[in-house]
Amino acid sequence: MAKDLHNAKKSKQDDFYTQLTDIEKELKYHKESLKNKTIICNCDDPRVSNFFHYFSFNFESLQLKKLISVCYKNQSKDLFTREDKDKAIYLIYEGDKNNDNIPNEDEIDVLNLNGDGDFRSQESIELLKQADIVITNPPFSLFREFIAQIMHYEKKFLIIGSVNAINYKEVFKLIMDNKVWLGASIHSGDREFGVPKDLVTRSKSLRIDEEGNKFISVPGIRWFTNLEYAQKYEDLILYKKYNPEEYPKYDNYDAINVNVTKEIPMDYSGIMGVPITFLSKYNPDQFEILGLSQKVGYGLESTKFYDEYEETRQDGTKTGSSGKKTNGNPVMKGKPKKGNYYVKGEDIVHSLYGRIFIRNKRL
Ligand SMILES: C[S@@+](CC[C@H](N)C(=O)[O-])C[C@H]1O[C@@H](n2cnc3c(N)ncnc32)[C@H](O)[C@@H]1O
Repeated sequence: MAKDLHNAKKSKQDDFYTQLTDIEKELKYHKESLKNKTIICNCDDPRVSNFFHYFSFNFESLQLKKLISVCYKNQSKDLFTREDKDKAIYLIYEGDKNNDNIPNEDEIDVLNLNGDGDFRSQESIELLKQADIVITNPPFSLFREFIAQIMHYEKKFLIIGSVNAINYKEVFKLIMDNKVWLGASIHSGDREFGVPKDLVTRSKSLRIDEEGNKFISVPGIRWFTNLEYAQKYEDLILYKKYNPEEYPKYDNYDAINVNVTKEIPMDYSGIMGVPITFLSKYNPDQFEILGLSQKVGYGLESTKFYDEYEETRQDGTKTGSSGKKTNGNPVMKGKPKKGNYYVKGEDIVHSLYGRIFIRNKRL
């Protein structure tokens, strides 16, 4: 896992603030879904959250019905201007009343919560129930619980998370069942997040602007959603033809290996293992998802184990580990160009990263 994300996970506050431009870039695909809807941002201190900013300033143009923002009792005192620092608050905005098209202070209801505003608290759940769509960047460390709660209350949502969440058993199941998919705007690269000014970090990606605001770049960020959008149904254009040399079968799964999503062979009707990043190009009308490698494997399970294989470095020295680690990951015959591999007598194998197993529905 990327170091910055790891640090974010370790940080109790998970205080990574989404940039306005990233919100704008994604939300432009969802305007139709938002019309006449109540939006809840339930991990959002309105003083620092660009989600509240974006929806309150665009309330009329998006034709929203209501905006709710729940502010978790923040540990970081300088973010809290209210006197009662232990109480959380929530905000309700129902649109511009004085025709200046700006959400003025007296148009926003600021209400007290009894508890700390945890999204799992009953108070917060009651607010969730009033909403149609949850839109936020929840704490990375609580992503699993956050998405489970939304699904439980059968809400629409658009939330930011790490690409690693795809590997969570519960999340992958939702993706496989076409109940959750990735958003339209982020497919690769790093995203910059605002971080508290007092954050002490050795991150190489730290940027400080002229006003002393701090930002950190985080790789592997994706939007997760169950909002429909047209681009999701665009076909991935396939141009390569299948041949067994370029697309060998795994040693432990009954599927061929495809290293790069755009190189999925156009004429292969069997099961193919593709990188997790395939999901950014996934059109459910074009492909069917059958499973995920690794131990959570849905639909497809690894058929072989490599317990007696010795892990070997490129220079031929042994690491001292056995091949247990290859269990579940797709395994190929032979020695890789880079990285460690596994040896048992004459047999040499190497394991790949996790793969999603798919089938072309159109063949
Ligand atoms: C990753 S930050 C994102 C903040 C904001 N949504 C944004 O994108 O700018 C997660 C936020 O969730 C808040 N938070 C942490 N634990 C929470 C919980 N259990 N319930 C609700 N909010 C929580 C943190 O205080 C933090 O502001």
